[in-house]
Formats: sequence, structure tokens, C-alpha cells
Amino acid sequence: MLQIAPSILAADFLHLEKDIQLVNRCGDILHLDVMDGSLVPNISFGFSVIDQVAKIATAPMDAHLMVVHPERWFDKVASDGIQMCSFHWEAAGSNTSRYIDRLHRLGLKAGVAINPDVPVSRLYPYIGKADYFLVMSVFAGFGGQKFIYETLDRVAALRAEIARRGAQALIEIDGGVYEGNVRAAEEAGVDIVVAGSAVYGADDPAAAISALRGA
Ligand code: DX5
Ligand code: ZN
Repeated sequence: MLQIAPSILAADFLHLEKDIQLVNRCGDILHLDVMDGSLVPNISFGFSVIDQVAKIATAPMDAHLMVVHPERWFDKVASDGIQMCSFHWEAAGSNTSRYIDRLHRLGLKAGVAINPDVPVSRLYPYIGKADYFLVMSVFAGFGGQKFIYETLDRVAALRAEIARRGAQALIEIDGGVYEGNVRAAEEAGVDIVVAGSAVYGADDPAAAISALRGA
């Protein structure tokens, strides 16, 4: 079944506890967007916030590192009890395999993320090695952007390549997901959808999560 990962980037930071408890109760994964203003043109929050979030999160946490030198943060991610960690191929380049190994040695699920302008085939060398792939459905950096529909073809191609190799890997998409496109994403082969605005911008965030899950 499709897993829903609310992104607290769109949460109410003055009442963050309430928005985290929502994910504990109704979500599958708590998505944490870390941006450094360098790999992406925005700064979000860092570990002074995540350390506190981790104290009350009971849902598994997924750190999406949109930073240069993601490897500098892997130990910290692990010590906060985060289970899944993705870094961008654009930041890692030829170190991608090494970084996946490091995350595995720390006991984490390793994800490789790419922006919409990176050919999806760049991920193929890591099939059979990465636990999941984060195919961005907007350009990383901001919440509330419009879903890029070509993402669905990229997901389908990646899903087919994973199957062709008889490998296992989850596919996550991130950005612009809402009720109107989530079923198409599921059909294309997505396992995890990240949703910020569609959850926290809704009048009833718990109902929004159920609607995205479709069950
Ligand atoms: C964007 C972040 C997303 C963002 C999604 O760079 O990676 O996780 O929070 O927000 P929405 O769902 O509002 O597009
Ligand atoms: Zn994200």
C-alpha cells in the first residue's frame, strides 16, 4: 500500500508538536527537509530542530538532505534515531556508492535523490544497492510548487529497470503531490509520497492523509 510521508516543512512551526503527533497518529513516515541554501536556493531547519522532533516522533523518520557534503551529517542523522536518509546525487556524484555504504554501516536505509533535470538513468548504477530512490517531482528547495508530470514517466522507467534487474527498491516522489495526481503516481510505481501543503494546508490534515492513501 502507498505510504504517506507528511513533510513538516509545511507545518505550523509555532505548534510543531501538534503537527508531529498528527504524523505519529495518521501518517506512515515523517519527512524532514534539510536545506542549506547552497545545493538548493533556500534554508529550512537543521538539527537543533530535528533533535527536538526526534524526541516525540514515533513514526519512522526520513531525512531528505538537500545539502552539499551530506556525508558530514550521516552520524548525526543516525544518532537522532532517523531510519531513512536520502542525499542528492547532484551533491554526491562519484561518492554515491560510498555514501550508501556509510549509511548502511550506520544501520540506516539509504536513499538517492535527484532533481527533475537529472536523467533518471543516473540512478541505475545504484539499483540493487540503494534502499530507495527519491525522484523529485518539483525542483528541490521550496514547498507549495506545481507537480511536474514528466516525473511519472521517470518513475515508470525506474520501476521497470528495477524489475528488469530483479532488484528491490522503493520509489519516493516529493513535491506538488495532492489528491488529484496521487493515484497516477501510484499507478506509475510510486511506493512513498511526500506531501507538505496537501496535508498541512488542508482544513482536516488527518482526512487529507487518508485521501492521499486512498484506502
Ligand atoms: C521540496 C521538499 C518537499 C516539500 C514538499 O524541496 O523536498 O519535501 O516539503 O512540499 P509540497 O508537498 O508542498 O510540494
Ligand atoms: Zn523532501
